[in-house]
Amino acid sequence: MSFPTHRMRRLRRAEALRRQVRETRLSPDNLVAPLFVCAGEGVRREIASMPGCSQMSVDVLVEECGELAALGVPAVILFGLPDRKDAVGSSAADPEGPVPRALAALRRDVPSLALWADVCLCEYTDHGHCGPIVEDSRGVRDVSNDATLPRLAEAARVYARAGADVVAPSDMMDGRVAAIRHALDDDGRTDVVIVSYAAKYASAFYGPFREAAGSTPAFGDRRSYQMDPANALEALREVALDLDEGADIVMVKPALAYLDIVWRVKERFGVPVAAYNVSGEYAMVRAAGRAGWIDETRIAMEILISIRRAGADIILTYFAKDAARLLA
Ligand code: PBG
Repeated sequence: MSFPTHRMRRLRRAEALRRQVRETRLSPDNLVAPLFVCAGEGVRREIASMPGCSQMSVDVLVEECGELAALGVPAVILFGLPDRKDAVGSSAADPEGPVPRALAALRRDVPSLALWADVCLCEYTDHGHCGPIVEDSRGVRDVSNDATLPRLAEAARVYARAGADVVAPSDMMDGRVAAIRHALDDDGRTDVVIVSYAAKYASAFYGPFREAAGSTPAFGDRRSYQMDPANALEALREVALDLDEGADIVMVKPALAYLDIVWRVKERFGVPVAAYNVSGEYAMVRAAGRAGWIDETRIAMEILISIRRAGADIILTYFAKDAARLLA
């Protein structure tokens, strides 16, 4: 009778052993909770396609962030629902808008939290695109890259002044990291971190977010500025450019269908990498969980550890609060 020489199962026999040889860890330290802030008081409106997530007014948001901080989640990223929209998204830089007001309140009431502000115009334009529209050389309407840059820079400056530690441009215009870095530095804010959504794909996985943030494009799609899902080498070029322009952390988005990109970016650049576990990824798990088809808690934790295993240091996820509770 011959025995197997190598017994891989030996180290899997008991949880105590498994814990000792575990290669990847997930901690609340890795998490960022995305939150949607709106006008009003006492408002908590659940987002139909994202059960467990709500649009919140500043007072409710402050409470929510207090709970997240108590659970050990170090950071939140804010998205705004403005009262008014126009063709150029000017309310993105309104110091009285929902995001700056929330930042100021959180800076005061939850000082331990790192405050991230998403920087984009799509929640603030009446057409839902990420910048002002012009006609291109073929007579097709498209977002103007260079008219968008100063507006993003101005919004970033307003958020930094209101209390943001981190600004995170998600628009995918060329040159926006440099434009934002210059604007912040000129304002004496060399301390503000830039997380660039460097490899952001034109993805159908953003569907529920667009309901949450009221940012569905009124015509066309975002394929002239967000990346083609078929491309990986292009993602590395995007990351290289953003780092060159001064990005401190680079993001890959979405996460799950793009774990190979997370891996390549981490391997190639060795910089802090964030991955965005986006709304559609969240909604699918919640929906199947509600139907009783999957164990959503186990699935969520498996997803999060797989994003860590692929190389992400930071995960933006709507599961942040639930995961932090389980990890406590
Ligand atoms: C804004 C933005 C989007 C998301 C984050 N910032 C939507 C989009 O590009 O249409 C998506 C986040 C998610 O789906 O959870 N540009």
